[in-house]
Amino acid sequence: MNKKNIDKIIQLKKKYNAIILAHNYQLPEVQDIADFLGDSLDLAIKATKTDCDNIVFCGVDFMAQSAKILNPDKNVIHPDIEAECPMANTVNTVELLKLKKDNPDAEVVSYINTTIETKAISDICCTSANGVKVVESLHSKKIIFVPDKNLGNYIQRNAKDKELIIWPGVCPTHHRIRKEEILDLKKIHPDAEILVHPECRPEVIDISDFALSTNGMLNHVKKSDANEFIIGTEKELCYRLKNENNDKIFYPIKTAICPNMKKITFEKVLNSLETLEPKIEIPVELMKKAKIPLKKMMDIGRGD
Ligand code: 13P
Ligand code: SF4
Repeated sequence: MNKKNIDKIIQLKKKYNAIILAHNYQLPEVQDIADFLGDSLDLAIKATKTDCDNIVFCGVDFMAQSAKILNPDKNVIHPDIEAECPMANTVNTVELLKLKKDNPDAEVVSYINTTIETKAISDICCTSANGVKVVESLHSKKIIFVPDKNLGNYIQRNAKDKELIIWPGVCPTHHRIRKEEILDLKKIHPDAEILVHPECRPEVIDISDFALSTNGMLNHVKKSDANEFIIGTEKELCYRLKNENNDKIFYPIKTAICPNMKKITFEKVLNSLETLEPKIEIPVELMKKAKIPLKKMMDIGRGD
């Protein structure tokens, strides 16, 4: 990555009226060239607000697909189509349909980290920024929640009047974070606040000060009186946290890496801008069905 290539990116963005959206877990080299950084919800909202013809989406597949579903008339370009979220692929739609049939009084809430096929048979989506708010907004007492059991448990603990049937998926990156790793850091940095993602295990959430989405953590850090923070999520969030809060100190979990997020590189973004490929293509009927639960979620907005 050099100045010449950065200039090329700037020129290509202008030439093709393109915007680069990037998730908070992207490599620093990608974060540095993004026009907008965000969590899943803010990226989806941003995708609906841009008037650019081409959206280069730096994140995993479900995020780029959501941008396309919400903007069927725009080109959404995903620099590496192999950047997938493994948790999204844990839902088997045949089994989910059976679960729906067995529980006709339940509504299906799917985390945005799902496939388009799963969204198409869901009543509403949510992200980590509004899971509790979404579930509490529903009329049914019974909710089928897919696919993250840690987020599902977190929502269940906060939406006590609801009865969640929780799919047994996990995020390998967050589920790997152990309570002991956090406590070891806390011993060395006793004044640090502990912020964790709700995709972490319940025992990790229990020892945290706050469980928040990635943008929730950014917003919290900006207004907190604390100067040091232990960050229980994918480690690259600390790059953005430090960039935007240079006077504060962040302690990442060094092993918390999402290998799929790392598949998007500076070179691939440049290549995508040169070729306007690979584009996200989704059958129109499927896209229409998946848009309904996504739009319902967007109308609810952030809950953190
Ligand atoms: P956020 O929406 O909080 O950024 O989380 C996305 C994600 O994939 C977490 O692993
Ligand atoms: Fe999926 Fe986990 Fe990676 Fe997020 S961190 S994209 S949930 S695998």
